[in-house]
Amino acid sequence: MAFWRFLGLLSTLLLLLPPINSTASIRLQVVRRPTPELPVFREAPAFRNGDECGSKEADRIHITMTLDANYLRGTMAAVLSMLQHSTCPENLSFHFLSAHDEAELNSSINSTFPYLNFTIYHFDSNLVRGKISKSIRQALDQPLNYARIYLAPILPGNVERVIYLDSDIIVVDDIAKLWKVDLEGKIVAAPEYCNANFRVYFTNNFWSDRELSNTFNGRNPCYFNTGVMVMDVGKWREGGYTSKVEEWMLVQKVRRIYQLGSLPPFLLALAGNIKAVDHRWNQHGLGGDNFEGKCRGLHPGPISLLHWSGKGKPWLRLDSRRPCIVDHLWAPYDLYRSTSHFLEE
Ligand SMILES: *[C@@H]1O[C@H](CO)[C@@H](O)[C@H](O)[C@H]1NC(C)=O
Ligand SMILES: *[C@@H]1O[C@H](CO)[C@@H](O)[C@H](O)[C@H]1NC(C)=O
Ligand SMILES: *[C@@H]1O[C@H](CO)[C@@H](O)[C@H](O)[C@H]1NC(C)=O
Ligand SMILES: *[C@@H]1O[C@H](CO)[C@@H](O)[C@H](O)[C@H]1NC(C)=O
Repeated sequence: MAFWRFLGLLSTLLLLLPPINSTASIRLQVVRRPTPELPVFREAPAFRNGDECGSKEADRIHITMTLDANYLRGTMAAVLSMLQHSTCPENLSFHFLSAHDEAELNSSINSTFPYLNFTIYHFDSNLVRGKISKSIRQALDQPLNYARIYLAPILPGNVERVIYLDSDIIVVDDIAKLWKVDLEGKIVAAPEYCNANFRVYFTNNFWSDRELSNTFNGRNPCYFNTGVMVMDVGKWREGGYTSKVEEWMLVQKVRRIYQLGSLPPFLLALAGNIKAVDHRWNQHGLGGDNFEGKCRGLHPGPISLLHWSGKGKPWLRLDSRRPCIVDHLWAPYDLYRSTSHFLEE
C-alpha cells in the first residue's frame, strides 16, 4: 500500500545516496520500478514431509491467520517458521482471512510459497464495523483484528479444529505438538496467566456493576492472549460463541466496560473455561510497551512460539535500524526482498 511504496522509495533513495550526482537515476529507478501494491518476497524453498507423516485427512493441520498489507511481512515469516520446524510441513493447510485485495494477496502467497496448501477467505468488515468501540490503541480497532471471532462461520464445515495465530509470531517448534492438545471438551486452548491481575482488563464500570461482574461467577477467570489459540470450531458453532462475543461488544458500546480491542469480549465469553497449554506456546509481549514502545526481554523457560504483541513490530524496528535484541530472533525468517534486488534486476 502507500506506506510500503513510501518505504521502498525511501530505501531506494538511501541506497543511492553516496553518489550524490545521481538525481536523474533516482527518478529513473522510481519510474521503472513495478510499483507493487504489496511488498515483494523471496520464494521460500519446498519443505517435504518426513517418513512418519500420515496420509489420512485426520492428519491434516489447519492454521488460520489474517492477511493485511501492513502485516504481510509478518505473516510470511510466520508461515516460513512453521514450515521449517514441522515434521510434516506438507500437511499444513492455511486458511487466510482478508478484508480486501484477495487476488493480489493470492498471487503474492502463491509466488512466495508455491507449494503451500492455502485458501483465502473474504472477511466482510461490515460484520463488525458498527460494533467496534475505540480502544486505547488504534491498531487494535482494525476490523480484521476481530476476524478471529468469525472463524466458525467463515471456515468450511469440514474444518473441525483450527489453530488461530496472529501475524507477529514465529514458531520455533513443531506446530503439530500444539495441534494435538487434548481440549478436554473445552472450546479454546491457549496459555493461561493466572498470576496476572485479571481486574485490569475491565473498567470500574464493569466491576462496580453487580450484574455485569457476576458474569464470572463459578469460573476462575485468568488472562489469556487471543493471538495464539487452538479452537474447536464445531463446539464454537454449537455454543453460538460468535454471538456471545458480539453481545459483549454491544455492551461495550453503551457502558465502556474495557479499554482494549478484541481481547476483553473474548475473556468475557471464555476466561476460566479454556484448556490451559504450556506457556512455551506464547512468549508474548515482545513488541514492547503499549504506551512507550520499550523493548522487552524473553520470559524464563522453554520457547516454542515467539509473539511480538504490543506496539512495536520487529520488521519496522529492524528497518529503522533500532531493533530490540529479540528482533534478531525474527530476522532469519524475513522473506522480504529489499530494494537492492530491484536495482540488480
Ligand atoms: C500429507 O502429505 C503427504 C505427502 O505429500 C501426502 O501424501 C498425504 O496425503 C498428506 N496427508 C494429508 C492429510 O494431507
Ligand atoms: C487464488 O488462486 C487459486 C488458484 O489459481 C484460485 O483457485 C482461487 O480461487 C484464488 N483465490 C482468490 C481469493 O483469488
Ligand atoms: C501460482 O504459481 C504457479 C507457479 O509457481 C503458477 O503456475 C500459478 O498460475 C500461480 N497461481 C496463482 C493463483 O497465482
Ligand atoms: C489442501 O487442503 C485441503 C483441506 O484444507 C484439502 O481438502 C486438499 O486436498 C489439500 N490439497 C492438497 C493438494 O493437498
